[in-house]
Amino acid sequence: MARIPMARPVVTEEMVEAMAGAIRNERMVMGESTHKFEEEFARYIGTKYAISLGSGTAALQLAMIAAGVQGKEVLTTPFSFIATANAAVEAGAVPKFADARASDYNLDPAKAQKAIGPKTAVLLPVHLYGYPADLDPMLESSKKNGMTLIEDACQAHGSIYRGKRAGSIGDMGCFSFYPTKNMTVGGDGGMVTTDDERLAKQVAKLRDCGRVSRYVHDVIGFTSRLNTANAAFGRVQLRHLDEWNERRRAIAKLYANELKDLKQARLPPQGGKDIVPVFHLYALKAERRDELAEFLGKKGIESAVHYPVPIHLQPVYQQLYGYKKGSFPVSEELSNCMISLPMFPEMKEEEVRFVCEAVREFYGGK
Ligand SMILES: Cc1ncc(COP(=O)(O)O)c(C=O)c1O
Repeated sequence: MARIPMARPVVTEEMVEAMAGAIRNERMVMGESTHKFEEEFARYIGTKYAISLGSGTAALQLAMIAAGVQGKEVLTTPFSFIATANAAVEAGAVPKFADARASDYNLDPAKAQKAIGPKTAVLLPVHLYGYPADLDPMLESSKKNGMTLIEDACQAHGSIYRGKRAGSIGDMGCFSFYPTKNMTVGGDGGMVTTDDERLAKQVAKLRDCGRVSRYVHDVIGFTSRLNTANAAFGRVQLRHLDEWNERRRAIAKLYANELKDLKQARLPPQGGKDIVPVFHLYALKAERRDELAEFLGKKGIESAVHYPVPIHLQPVYQQLYGYKKGSFPVSEELSNCMISLPMFPEMKEEEVRFVCEAVREFYGGK
C-alpha cells in the first residue's frame, strides 16, 4: 500500500485551464471570474452577497472590523485553529473564550451565554471539522444582547444546520480556501457571506484599500483581494463540492462501520436530520493518541492533530492575556486526545480499510 496522506486537493486539467484562461484574458485582480465566483458562491450558500478575500483569516478579520469590534470583545472557542482568535486581535478586539462542548467539540452555547459581558460585540462559533456548531441558542443570545454572530465556516463548506447552509445562518459567514479545505482556489483565499448589504459593502471596501471610488478612500483598508486566476479555479471546484462532500460522508460511514467496536476511541458525531456535516476532518478522540500517530506513521499512514495546543495556552495568548492551564478543561482534554485520520474525496475504500486495520491493530484487536 502506497503512503496515505491526510488530505489531497483535487486538481484537474479543467481547473488549471480555467486559471490559465483567466490570466491570459482577464484583469488579474478583480476580473470577471472574481465576480462570477462571488455570485455563484453566494447562491450556493444561500446568501445575497459573497465577498472574496485573500484568506480565511482576512475574511474573519474584515468581517469583524465591519461588525465594529474595535475596542470591544469577541467571544469564541479556544478549541480551533489559532487564526480564529488572531483575526479578532487583528480587528482591534480582545478575544475571549468559552469552552467547547464535549458532545460535538464546538463552542458550548450554554457556556457562551454565561461568558457574554458588557463589551462582547461578536459571538464567533466555529464549525470545527465540518460539523455545524449548535447555532440556534447562540443566535438567540446574540440577538438578545445586540451582538453580531459571525460563523467561522472555514472548515464547513456545504454543511447544513436545520435546513440552512453554514455561512448563511449568522450575520456573516467566513470561509477559507486553503488547499486542504473541502474546496480550494488553488492557493490561499477566503470569502465572507452575508444577507446584509451594509456589511457586504463594508467588507468589499475594506479588502480594496478602503476605496469608495477609484481615487477616494474613506476608511483605512487592506489589500486582501482574491486573485482572478484563483477565483477561476474556485469556480470549477465549487461545481464539485456537493459530490466531494457526499464522498467524504461515505468515507466517514465506512470509518464508523470499521471502528465502531473500538473501546479506546470515540467516533466523531455523525449528524442526523438537523445536521449534515461535511467531514473536513475525520477526528477520533483516542486513548494514547501520540503513540497511535507514531504507529500509523510507521505504516505509511499520515495523521495530524487538530489541535494539540488550545488557543488560550498558545505562548502568545498566555503572554498577552495571562491564560493558565485549567481555564477551559474540555478544550484542554480534547487537545490531548484528538487525532485526525486521512480524509479526502479521492480516498479509496481499500485505503480506508487499511487505516482502520492499523488502528485496530494498535489497540490490540484483529
Ligand atoms: C477554523 C479555521 N478558522 C480560520 C482559518 C484560517 O483560514 P486561512 O488559512 O485561509 O487564513 C482556518 C484554516 O486555516 C480554520 O481552519
